[in-house]
Amino acid sequence: MRRSRSAVVIYLLVTFCKEFICQAENVFPPTSFSEVPNGDMYQAEGSNKVLTCKTSSLPTPEYGWLKNDQYITNFSTTGYQFRFTNTKRNDTGYYRCEARNTLGALLSAPAVVTVAYMDDFENSSHIFNMSISSGQAIVLPMPPVKSVPFPKSISWTRNQIPLSVYDTRYQISIDGALVLLDQTTTDSNKIYHVTATNTHSDGLEMLGPQYRVTVTESGLTAVPASIVVGPKNVTVVQDVGDSIKLECICNARPLSSLIVRWFRMVNGVKTEVIDSIDFLLPVSEKNRTLTIKNYKPSHSGLYICEAMLLGDATPVTANATLEVHGEYLCGVLRKLGIMHVRKVSSQISLCSLHRLIRDDT
Ligand SMILES: *[C@@H]1O[C@H](CO)[C@@H](O)[C@H](O)[C@H]1NC(C)=O
Ligand SMILES: *[C@@H]1O[C@H](CO)[C@@H](O)[C@H](O)[C@H]1NC(C)=O
Ligand SMILES: *[C@@H]1O[C@H](CO)[C@@H](O)[C@H](O)[C@H]1NC(C)=O
Ligand SMILES: *[C@@H]1O[C@H](CO)[C@@H](O)[C@H](O)[C@H]1NC(C)=O
Ligand SMILES: *[C@@H]1O[C@H](CO)[C@@H](O)[C@H](O)[C@H]1NC(C)=O
Ligand SMILES: *[C@@H]1O[C@H](CO)[C@@H](O)[C@H](O)[C@H]1NC(C)=O
Ligand SMILES: *[C@@H]1O[C@H](CO)[C@@H](O)[C@H](O)[C@H]1NC(C)=O
Repeated sequence: MRRSRSAVVIYLLVTFCKEFICQAENVFPPTSFSEVPNGDMYQAEGSNKVLTCKTSSLPTPEYGWLKNDQYITNFSTTGYQFRFTNTKRNDTGYYRCEARNTLGALLSAPAVVTVAYMDDFENSSHIFNMSISSGQAIVLPMPPVKSVPFPKSISWTRNQIPLSVYDTRYQISIDGALVLLDQTTTDSNKIYHVTATNTHSDGLEMLGPQYRVTVTESGLTAVPASIVVGPKNVTVVQDVGDSIKLECICNARPLSSLIVRWFRMVNGVKTEVIDSIDFLLPVSEKNRTLTIKNYKPSHSGLYICEAMLLGDATPVTANATLEVHGEYLCGVLRKLGIMHVRKVSSQISLCSLHRLIRDDT
């Protein structure tokens, strides 16, 4: 409702401006864009891209381009396109065009250009030697790799055989680490190897260093529940259709008697989270990851993961706070393709769309 009202007000004022003030002189400033620069999600390193900006005005508009709010081109009537050839990492930034004539200027919403890339893993030929005793868990960290965005797909092999997602004693954490649970001496001396794929960078695939894990016999037949990787605090802006994952990867012996449950505080009351419209808690994943679908501000709050062996009296717990902020006004401005209009001559102050949109809120 609010948006369409602003649109009507803007339309009326622009019309008013054109009819009464500007047309008197048969000239008018740029008042809206017919085409705005469009940023893709990611741009593979080395690729080409063109940003385009179009408006009309009399006298003919001149176009200039800004990167991160700094001018990067001179103004010219033919400069309505900005071309990247062979994009570099340092081309990442937000780009706007400015269209102007002697009567006024219009600044576009930013087009975010993110150059995607991935380097080799550091020390990719390294073998890290690690050791634990049986019944314990160990985290094989995702080794550092320079990648934008974070590799979409991370897979691990054990002695060159891909790890089965159906084996309950393995879990790849959200940040790509491999978590080995309830290890036995038969697991000893195996080699684990990670591969990362950056699908935004033309599917670049990199092989990481290796881990050799030695398991020594502890003689333990029971190991109490522990949280190996707990949920992390998350702060996000609502994004329709998107989801968030919280994780709680727990160890115990026997693993088959481990129970993991999720709770959240709702109006000060601890409430169990179950598989439902908003929350995904598939049985097959042993409740290790809680997915919050279509997250919104009402999902904000404290989330608690509890782990215990069947028959235990008290669970071990880990907490995380989720903060979801609503969409901001800038979302509305972005959709209109207008951030603000700068006054060049006092004559057109009535056409200041910026003020109008603000006044309407
Ligand atoms: C802008 O014009 C000046 C003077 O002609 C020139 O020296 C400068 O290189 C130009 N800048 C860009 C970014 O093209
Ligand atoms: C961006 O990086 C390239 C090399 O990757 C370099 O040649 C160029 O000068 C850099 N540009 C800026 C503005 O830093
Ligand atoms: C990689 O190797 C170098 C030298 O061998 C070492 O200094 C560095 O700590 C290693 N990095 C990691 C992540 O192990
Ligand atoms: C781990 O052990 C292997 C074989 O014993 C050895 O070749 C390798 O250098 C060791 N790695 C480190 C980082 O010490
Ligand atoms: C998570 O947030 C809570 C408060 O909201 C804070 O007490 C806690 O230290 C945070 N945990 C981490 C790991 O930052
Ligand atoms: C998973 O959570 C549900 C409650 O939503 C609980 O009934 C079930 O026992 C849990 N499963 C495991 C394996 O912990
Ligand atoms: C998690 O939150 C609950 C409820 O506020 C609290 O009882 C518990 O002590 C917290 N646990 C940790 C590990 O912070």
